[in-house]
Amino acid sequence: MRFDIVTLFPELFAPFLAAGVTRRAYEGRLVDVRPWNLRDFAEGNYRRVDDRPFGGGPGMVMMAQPLARCLEAIRADASGEAQRPVVLFSPVGERLDHAAVERWSASAGAILVCGRYEGIDQRFIDKHVDMQVSLGDFVLSGGEIAAMALLDAVARLQPGVLNDAGSHAADSFNPALDGLLDCPHYTRPEEWGGSAVPPQLLSGHHAQIERWRREQRLQVTAARRPDLIEAARAAGRLTKADEAFLASPAGKRL
Ligand SMILES: C[S@@+](CC[C@H](N)C(=O)[O-])C[C@H]1O[C@@H](n2cnc3c(N)ncnc32)[C@H](O)[C@@H]1O
Repeated sequence: MRFDIVTLFPELFAPFLAAGVTRRAYEGRLVDVRPWNLRDFAEGNYRRVDDRPFGGGPGMVMMAQPLARCLEAIRADASGEAQRPVVLFSPVGERLDHAAVERWSASAGAILVCGRYEGIDQRFIDKHVDMQVSLGDFVLSGGEIAAMALLDAVARLQPGVLNDAGSHAADSFNPALDGLLDCPHYTRPEEWGGSAVPPQLLSGHHAQIERWRREQRLQVTAARRPDLIEAARAAGRLTKADEAFLASPAGKRL
């Protein structure tokens, strides 16, 4: 899978690609990431990539022409490879979620465009962008952090990238655990700051531990994301024991 990144700050990606467990995915080219410096595709002595907005107003707008030239160069470099969509990171885009990350992690990749300033000329979006993706209801200074978020989430789903093969299946939102939020985790010492580890986790009784974890997931999800409980219920993923727990005082404790 290949992700080309169109950015004014390609240097931001080097430390990101070299850190943590996901490094294996990038170094092994399971997730092949290629940053492109948009300024290399600008014309003139000043290599301008932005200009003032027509109609006035604050800030600058990224020009369509350097973006189109960069896109052309990426397509020429990837000729013969699978066609991939052009994705623009933008607050007006569709919110990134686990289902979308799973789709990306099984795809051929994409060409990711990172905006800066007030955004990019709408004519480039109309002509070349296949979809817009948002990280959430807030405004970043640029799309690079959004690109890194997508790449990181995709890389950790690749086989062999995490130290424990099944660990992402136990994460929040994973369909393997019915899309619920994750349960609390504890490690040594058994007693810290006057708090003890829940005794179920020390019981050595596998079924008891799994039931405790399931109930914790149900409890935290019911309190913080009732929409996810409704989705699991609608998909028929809640057992009678789950429903009985959710209806009990313990299920409503948080
Ligand atoms: C300062 S922002 C532009 C914000 C734009 N004027 C608006 O209000 O929607 C510059 C760039 O950061 C990126 N960006 C900002 N917020 C984002 C978000 N929530 N998700 C994804 N990308 C974002 C986009 O690429 C955007 O073009």
